[in-house]
Amino acid sequence: RKKVTLNTIRATYKKGEPITVLTAHDFPSGHVADAAGMEIVLVGDSLAMVAMGMDDTSEVLLEEMLLHCRSVARAAKSSFLVGDLPMGCYEIAPEQALESAIRVIKEGRVHSVKLEGGIEMAPSIKKITSAGIPVLGHVGLTPQRQNSLGGFRVQGKTAASAMRVLKDALAVQEAGAFAMVMEAVPAEIAALITRKLSVPTIGIGAGSGCSGQVLVQIDMTGNFPPGRFIPKFVKKYGDVWSESLRAIESYKDETKSRAYPAPEHTYQISKEELAEFER
Ligand code: KIV
Ligand code: NA
Repeated sequence: RKKVTLNTIRATYKKGEPITVLTAHDFPSGHVADAAGMEIVLVGDSLAMVAMGMDDTSEVLLEEMLLHCRSVARAAKSSFLVGDLPMGCYEIAPEQALESAIRVIKEGRVHSVKLEGGIEMAPSIKKITSAGIPVLGHVGLTPQRQNSLGGFRVQGKTAASAMRVLKDALAVQEAGAFAMVMEAVPAEIAALITRKLSVPTIGIGAGSGCSGQVLVQIDMTGNFPPGRFIPKFVKKYGDVWSESLRAIESYKDETKSRAYPAPEHTYQISKEELAEFER
């Protein structure tokens, strides 16, 4: 597959063809996302929850994100790679945001960074992009701020709230973001805002009127135990957890019964060498 660049993404957007984005958090999940032909692979800080078992994304450290970014980057050789700036490493000032973005590029080995926020983050987006680092914005529901939003809640459900999402989106575009994630926004609002913009919107829980879609890989492949909460917008395309459980249970049973390992899983020694060893 040809390497995806910002030019590829712009061309896809111009054609009106939806842009495909998926998260990954380690070598195998990066590999499979790349192999499936995802145009963009995002090392999202949602890995705090789905891969590290944290309650929300506020706990994950920049150093930890760098480790995950590097692991994905070793696997995903064709996709355009984005690394999330985790909470606490970019809000203080544009200089702090640029410093963190540089670390994500240099130590995380990805191509661009994502940060959450609208109007208030415009100076930071400008600072990072002016250093030659592409920025993916993130408006609507910004999970790093879930405490001040009163939880993981849909944004833009009133005219006033929808206007705030629009203003944020315009500010993020004006600041130079190459695209923006639009999370948990009513479909009609997301579609209207998408039409007003000249950069792509990557929707998650924002309907089919966005310029592309993103999902969390562990959610959409069903790699979680039964009963775990998943948001309304997640479509479970697979049942990886059940397949893993089946495989591991078979291994357990075959080990207990000595059906595993069979001769084909075993190394041999010549009869002569064995006889000499036993002497
Ligand atoms: O962290 C993440 O996975 C994200 C996407 C869901 C957009 O930010
Ligand atoms: Na994120």
